[in-house]
Amino acid sequence: MFVGTIPHAMTVMRTNDQWRSNRRLMADTMSPQFLRNVAAPQERATFMSMIDLWKSKAGLAQGHAFEATQDVDQIMVDNIMSIAFGSSTGIIDAQIKLLKNLPEYFEPSTHSTEPALFPSAPNPAVYDALTKVAWSSEIGLKSPFGRHHHAFALKYYPKLRKAVQIRDAFITERLQAAWKKFNDLQASEDDVKSACDLIVAREVFLARKQGRAPDYDSPIVRDELFGFLLAGFDTTAGTIKWGLKYLTKHQDVQQKLRDSLRSTFKQAKADGELPQAEDMATLRTPYLDAVLEEILRLGITAQGNVRVATQDVELLGYHIPKGTDVLTPNSGPSLSAPPMYVDESKRSKTSQAVAPEDRWTGDWDQTTLGEFRPERWLRNNAQGEMEFDSRAGPMQTFGGGLRGCFGRKLAMLSLRIFFTMLIWSFELQPVPDELDSWAAEDLMTHQPQQTYVQLKPCTT
Ligand code: HEM
Repeated sequence: MFVGTIPHAMTVMRTNDQWRSNRRLMADTMSPQFLRNVAAPQERATFMSMIDLWKSKAGLAQGHAFEATQDVDQIMVDNIMSIAFGSSTGIIDAQIKLLKNLPEYFEPSTHSTEPALFPSAPNPAVYDALTKVAWSSEIGLKSPFGRHHHAFALKYYPKLRKAVQIRDAFITERLQAAWKKFNDLQASEDDVKSACDLIVAREVFLARKQGRAPDYDSPIVRDELFGFLLAGFDTTAGTIKWGLKYLTKHQDVQQKLRDSLRSTFKQAKADGELPQAEDMATLRTPYLDAVLEEILRLGITAQGNVRVATQDVELLGYHIPKGTDVLTPNSGPSLSAPPMYVDESKRSKTSQAVAPEDRWTGDWDQTTLGEFRPERWLRNNAQGEMEFDSRAGPMQTFGGGLRGCFGRKLAMLSLRIFFTMLIWSFELQPVPDELDSWAAEDLMTHQPQQTYVQLKPCTT
């Protein structure tokens, strides 16, 4: 899917030395320090813009629902761009400005169940270019010629070619700005504001120590940084859209979540403010973690994970020859539907030897797997306090093992901060049935076809 757009990134590589070297290069962008000190403040600032935008829309909509899909997509592009490059595309600010300047006679809708319709500001050129290149993966997905068609399109379709040029110029500008910042002898790692800054700062400091010129601009660095956008915007945006739908449908869960957040962030509640970035990155709310896992479980953002059998193997009595592509779906039996029957004698001897209490994950209540129930992720600890149990059931939304999702910690941080700020600021009110289809479409990820929200700002 990504080999045409980021041929030098870890995502498209076999598990070899080059893959390990790329993973090492990027490792600290998922460290607790980076997530707390760099990513969380960027996310809070980006999601503040989203709240401003939705406050304007809620006011103008006068009790009508409005389509959230485009706003969520745009906000998640700006979010991941701020973390990767320390610079947003300006798309949300353009939308806010447009709404502030609407004529006084603006009428969002007339009929009570109709959605409010808003004009859209033109996309900034850089937003257009980055998303055009990102979505171009679909050319390969839909074509019988796959990646070859995609590579041809990137090179020869004039609009796509232009988009690639704008993307490359944007990355060059960001890398040079970082180099300028860290080439200053006064600069330190405290000045890091993005993944781009972190990678360049490390290289500049190392080169200075070794008495050589820094090599901060390479195809690997460029592709890994652009890879943040490719791997990170559609996945988190899709999860957020499912989350908006589930929390709208389950008003009781939404209220319980709001109460739980208010009791975790007591100071923010007392001050009448949104929680601080550092607090959202470090203080845990078990019920929020449970809600997010439940959204991921039923939202099925990534439809499945693929592995290649590296040797002949026997699995539950079936022979799988070396070289076979093995697809493990992220929905269906054991995950979102009752498990299939497995003849225990067909399991491997080592598997049979594991006692139920020593298993890697527990088993959820198998009769309710199709239902949205965050409680399945909670249990009481020895002190009688409620805690989140990440191993309550066999989840693999982020894959697993060596090739599991590199960005998982960042994705979970984004989801935590987004839903904390959203539920703190708005009530998601029920939307009319005709705006609440649960049909999905499978493009790069599994997305709802319709996501409407009807928002009422919260008072506390
Ligand atoms: C809700 C959001 C996300 C979901 C559901 C998700 C899911 C996945 C899945 C299923 C895989 C394949 C894992 C496997 O085969 O075992 C993967 C790989 C990957 N993800 Fe994510 N992801 C998300 C967000 C992100 C973000 C924000 C980043 C940003 C850096 C990211 C970066 C990557 C990379 C680089 C890989 C490839 C790792 C490799 O090949 O070694 N992901 N992701």
